[in-house]
Amino acid sequence: PQEDGQPDALITTGGTESNQLGLLLAREHARARHTEPLRVVCGANAHHSVHRAAWLLGLPEPLTLPTPNGTLTPHTLHTALTDLHHPGTPGPPVLVCATAGTTDTGAIDPLPALADLADTHGARLHVDAAYGGPLLFSDTHRPLLTGLHRAHTVTLDLHKLGWQPVAAGLLAVPATAHLAPLAHRAAYLNADDDTEAGLPDLLGRSLRTTRRPDVLKMAVTLKALGRTGLADLVDRTLAAARGLADLIDAHPAHELHSRPTLSTVLFRPAGADDTTVATIRRRLLHRGRAVLGRAATPTGLWLKATLLNPHTTTDDLTSLLKLVEGHTPR
Ligand SMILES: Cc1ncc(COP(=O)(O)O)c(C=O)c1O
Repeated sequence: PQEDGQPDALITTGGTESNQLGLLLAREHARARHTEPLRVVCGANAHHSVHRAAWLLGLPEPLTLPTPNGTLTPHTLHTALTDLHHPGTPGPPVLVCATAGTTDTGAIDPLPALADLADTHGARLHVDAAYGGPLLFSDTHRPLLTGLHRAHTVTLDLHKLGWQPVAAGLLAVPATAHLAPLAHRAAYLNADDDTEAGLPDLLGRSLRTTRRPDVLKMAVTLKALGRTGLADLVDRTLAAARGLADLIDAHPAHELHSRPTLSTVLFRPAGADDTTVATIRRRLLHRGRAVLGRAATPTGLWLKATLLNPHTTTDDLTSLLKLVEGHTPR
């Protein structure tokens, strides 16, 4: 068992449930101290599950700040947090939700600056690191997550850069005591005398009752590969994404959205409009040739390749670009 004061993590069904738990813990923390409901403040780049969680938990609609360049900027957050606190009033309790690895572009919000602002304004910080979290394994890429340790709750999800089948989510907290709001008792599951006698009590470590042993596969992977083994897979995957970006850059027929931060590469045939991009993606899917995602940004619609196979070769990537060319409507 973990001592209070030591970091802890719950196993969840994925990023969606982890985000829900992050908001739930923040709501309960606020409820014990404030009369006003918790206000969630996030960027437009946040995963939709943050909004759903707020709805499910009976919280006001999150204040969603514009992220035209893909990340939440400190200046925008500072203005929003200042505006929430009208002069002479204590203002509502606030949870800032940042993202480390956005769904659309894989961008990482500037965590140290956002953590500073949350501190200054007395807000809590939740970081959705469902996609980017496993960069922690890598000595090369870990610095991109500087500031993550300052969050009150962190969503992790090893079904992406952790190579697990779903479900493989985690919610990490800095100390076991932060999980206290989830405590729950049922005489047929965790009777006091059984708990005191040392029987495991999982009821306060989930909103579920019967649970799948999802931790097993994660523990086996960590045991088999170790941190360095996982770091190698992370580094190779990110290198493959940079390789794809280089191929796109070098090819005048294709347009690159931006250099990848993680393993997501947005691109399209040069000059393609939104309809063309959407058509290419559906053609590749319907004809069983490639499964690409799509991302809508202020500069229009893009094809999204989220690379997750560490063994991807340059030939694979060249073939993908050829497939896109071959399925572009003329
Ligand atoms: C940033 C981010 N957060 C949360 C989620 C939700 O995770 P899950 O699908 O495991 O619930 C995703 C994607 O799936 C994501 O990209």
